[in-house]
Amino acid sequence: MNSITLHHGDSYDVLRDLIAQGIRVHAVICDPPYFLESIAKRFGSAKAAAAKHGDDGAFTRAGMKFTGKTWDTADENGNRISFDPEFWSLIHEILLPGGYVAAFASPRTGHWQAVAMELAGFDIHPFKGWAYSSGLPKQHPCDKAFKRLGGTEEEIEQWKGWAYGAQAEKPALEPIYIGQRKFDQKNGPMNIREHGVGAINIEDCKVPNEGGDDYHPANVVHDGSNAVLGDLGDAMKYFGQFSRDNKALILNPKANKHDRAGSKHPSVKPISLMQQVVRMYTPPGGIILDPFAGSGTTAEAARLEGNDCILIERDDEYVADMMARFADDSIPFTHVTYAEFDAPVDSGLDDLL
Ligand SMILES: C[S@@+](CC[C@H](N)C(=O)[O-])C[C@H]1O[C@@H](n2cnc3c(N)ncnc32)[C@H](O)[C@@H]1O
Repeated sequence: MNSITLHHGDSYDVLRDLIAQGIRVHAVICDPPYFLESIAKRFGSAKAAAAKHGDDGAFTRAGMKFTGKTWDTADENGNRISFDPEFWSLIHEILLPGGYVAAFASPRTGHWQAVAMELAGFDIHPFKGWAYSSGLPKQHPCDKAFKRLGGTEEEIEQWKGWAYGAQAEKPALEPIYIGQRKFDQKNGPMNIREHGVGAINIEDCKVPNEGGDDYHPANVVHDGSNAVLGDLGDAMKYFGQFSRDNKALILNPKANKHDRAGSKHPSVKPISLMQQVVRMYTPPGGIILDPFAGSGTTAEAARLEGNDCILIERDDEYVADMMARFADDSIPFTHVTYAEFDAPVDSGLDDLL
């Protein structure tokens, strides 16, 4: 029977520890912090200095102070784990050669993450687009703004129907960045034979077609909602749909009560979506790592797909949520409270930068 091990601690520390112990995994499937707030603060001002590499981690900026109050803001040194090539080099090291990482990201800040992944040595594949219908635009209508500013009738009329703001369009797509550790054997088949990873599961991820042969999986998955299908109804049939029980036209918003399992975590992912990602990138019986476990949806998907899962989460509340989620004993569950461990690890980063 497959199992779940939850490490309660910081991902940098736990990863170094696991690597030093010789633990290796077949896939990394994760949903890192998006750092939406801090990016705006960091680059939003005219006085903001350019990003640079430094001794305290790539992309950190000299002299910048951050409060680091929540997991979605930079730490006290200004470091953002999702954009740190050093973090991704640990992920690279713990993955078996040929193994895949599938990492969610924000459409606004995910490019930083993708660059960090590439700097750490990953081959970057086309990202997977997750289309959903439950997003709301955050827009400021120009006519109303000009009205408040005492603008002329003409000015107000001219800008009617226009809006400004960081997310003026309805958000409906999130990227899932896909990286692959390079093969360390002569070619793909030899790598797959040696390490058991290096290919993706096309057959089991095909999109059902009632009228004939199932469709080859595309790098778009959607929630099957009316809003996403819309006029594209027929065209969208080619794309993977992860709505619960696989019936078309069922609205599956970003996460529902079932996905949450009682957790109040702000960014719970739909389990059926996580199952699709797990199935595509993990070989049968392979070990999955999620270094940003949150409420435990990756592990729930791994449990349903029959894979072992190693989780890392540093927040006490979410660790408690996961212990509740997996308390039913249907799967062996180990909780490790992490103790400081200073394993000397050569991440190989100096050679990469
Ligand atoms: C976007 S959430 C993941 C949510 C998860 N996908 C779910 O469905 O519940 C990111 C998680 O990473 C955790 N986290 C952030 N930085 C971390 C670090 N350095 N070490 C361990 N966990 C961290 C946060 O506490 C947060 O729960």
